[in-house]
Amino acid sequence: MAKKADQYFRVDPWKVIEEGFDPAYARVSESVFSLANETLGVRGCFDEGGSVDSLRGAYMNGVYDIQALPKSYRGIVDKTHFMIPAAEWLATKITADGETLDLGKARFHSFLRVLDMQSGTLERSFVWQTAGGKAIRITFLRFLDRTARERAYQRVTLEALNAPADICFASGLSFDVMHEGYQKCFWQTPRLQASDGMLMAQCETAASGQTVFAGALLSLAYKTEACTDERGAYLCARFTLEKGQKTSIDKRVVILYDGTGGETLWSHGLKALQRSREVSLDEALNAQRAYWDAFWRTLDIKIDPSDEETAEAVAAEQQGVRFCSFQLAQTYNGGSMRHNIGAKGLTGEAYNGHAFWDTEACCLPFYLFTNPEAAKSLLMFRYNTLPQARERAKMLDCKGACYPIATLNGEEACSLWQHASLQLQPSTAVAYGIWHYVHVTGDEDFLWSMGAEMLLEIARFLASRVEKGAETGKYGFFGVMGPDEFHMMVNNNAYTNYMGKRTLSLAADTLTEMRSEKPQAYALLAEKTNLSEDEILSWAEIADGMFVPMGENGLIEQHDGYFNLPHTDIHSIPVSQFPLYDHWSYDRIYRSDMIKQPDVLMMLYLYNSSFSGDVKRVNYDFYEPRTIHESSLSPAIHSILAAELGKMEEAVRFFGFATRLDLDNYNRNTREGLHITSIALAWVNIVYGFAGLRSDGEGLSFAPRLPERWSRLSFSILYRGRVISVRMETEKTAFALAEGSDLPVRIYGRECVLTGTECFFPAGG
Ligand code: BGC
Repeated sequence: MAKKADQYFRVDPWKVIEEGFDPAYARVSESVFSLANETLGVRGCFDEGGSVDSLRGAYMNGVYDIQALPKSYRGIVDKTHFMIPAAEWLATKITADGETLDLGKARFHSFLRVLDMQSGTLERSFVWQTAGGKAIRITFLRFLDRTARERAYQRVTLEALNAPADICFASGLSFDVMHEGYQKCFWQTPRLQASDGMLMAQCETAASGQTVFAGALLSLAYKTEACTDERGAYLCARFTLEKGQKTSIDKRVVILYDGTGGETLWSHGLKALQRSREVSLDEALNAQRAYWDAFWRTLDIKIDPSDEETAEAVAAEQQGVRFCSFQLAQTYNGGSMRHNIGAKGLTGEAYNGHAFWDTEACCLPFYLFTNPEAAKSLLMFRYNTLPQARERAKMLDCKGACYPIATLNGEEACSLWQHASLQLQPSTAVAYGIWHYVHVTGDEDFLWSMGAEMLLEIARFLASRVEKGAETGKYGFFGVMGPDEFHMMVNNNAYTNYMGKRTLSLAADTLTEMRSEKPQAYALLAEKTNLSEDEILSWAEIADGMFVPMGENGLIEQHDGYFNLPHTDIHSIPVSQFPLYDHWSYDRIYRSDMIKQPDVLMMLYLYNSSFSGDVKRVNYDFYEPRTIHESSLSPAIHSILAAELGKMEEAVRFFGFATRLDLDNYNRNTREGLHITSIALAWVNIVYGFAGLRSDGEGLSFAPRLPERWSRLSFSILYRGRVISVRMETEKTAFALAEGSDLPVRIYGRECVLTGTECFFPAGG
């Protein structure tokens, strides 16, 4: 692995701490200090702005605009959509004796920024030393309400330390926000109002026609002046802060997008703002703490070091794991089935806010075992966007439904045709997600009411995209790009063929079972979709005849011709050349055997129980040294397989990378936003990697393997109305049901029944 960790933030079990400020690291910090509540998200940017390098992003899930693209060949998208920054609600301007606060220019000391994962708050404080010799301590606190998700809060506290200061304090709401990539503000037709401690602003997007309302209540003990500009509304107060005097200004904000607009939204916004009067910032803060308390009570993962020597490294891992769970739950926790999980969540503009196949392939297990309702909502998003997937299949001259590689609203938004047209993994991942959800939760109603229809349409798509090789006479997918995006337009990509095979046989089995078990529902579905029994038979026939290129020793060739590609020694690439997409020409990455992320290994991970240990070992040993992990999804998958193969040192090394990917800026691109979907894999890494959970076989099985540097690992998962608590120690693992009825499971391959009483299993089985 050629990547290195930056060590910038202070390690703490529950906080991320920045002591002192490095302007060169400003954007990385902004990403790491992001807050979200599923609906709203905001980067950790400075409230007061200034000349520090910054991406001032405050985003709303599902709020985007659309841009037409030059008309190109058939099948290549001719428009795209992308998340845009929404109302800037933190806007603050502070002047003291006529000098404006700007940390890019001013003198200051005692800078401290803290993200507290037990309260979901971000606090930043420092002492500003003005050119005139005044020392003013300033503290900014912010948080986004976890329960009333249209609400956000800011508190600014000023304290004159050594002398009186004449302060001018301005606070605003503004839609004058630039999308950095397009260098354009997408908001138009503003309606603005500022008066009596209250700000209101409403704007509409240029092309998607979405309207957003923003309102704020300011608690200022001083007389204010109100003003508006092109797209913003502001209140300003002037006052003198006596020596030793401290004052706080609370801002309660409402940001609303409810699908309405005009007068209707304005009045909904006003009402929501009035309702927010009923709760003070301190009350909201207490509720926030209670929310996170309850979250951590069930879902915390606790790691203890085995001795003094490992304590520091383990403390960093502990912080990393909590940071990942925290950021993932902030981004999505089942609050809405209209939204999905953007690869960067609500933390930056890279990837345009789009959700990828990552949701089903990487994030779903976290929700399946911590919040199954949220897992269902994610699949409902796919069901609700089935019409767009059907349209996409047509554009590609295929039948059925082709799910997009990148989307916010169900339409394909990826303008790189190689990815949009050649990647079949979004569709096979949705099928896998449906199967995994039903398999884990037992929610057959979902399968018959929605899952079966999606499976049918995906199978139809695959059957219309598959072809027979002229020489082999076997079925395969030609002209595709598998998960390894460093090889495009390849034939018989093993992952695509294998996932296609499994999807087609899953669809055939599901519909056959539906025909006999749920004849009425089947008849309705068959009529709605014009499904024939011959079609189902053809899926089974294709699945049986699918080419999966496995040699006698179990080594699987990633795609036709892969073994003949020139070799790249990945360790010879200097760290300064990462990320490669910024330093290598686009075509250069396609010309060797270097792979971006697990491809063959990905299918061995997803359908784990279908492959022997020997097959996993031979493929891991071959592909791992060729993998550059340029996708953040990569290290955790490697760690899980390494743990299964008993390569514990490697498993721990990859885990460190996966779990601190953003905290340590491993991929040198955290500045663009957090890798939210790979953050999900940090949890998976613990539960599937070190506790050895497998959920793709009969029932659940565990094979705990505790890394040497840990003395204990404990966590809980939810499963069909039960809470399973697991406590791994050096010599043994204890399993118990904290809630729910007895559960048969397999531990180290042996059948046993979990009950309310702790039972112990010696390490290694
Ligand atoms: C990876 C894809 C992934 C996307 C979003 C890319 O770098 O290669 O597999 O879907 O990032 O996370």
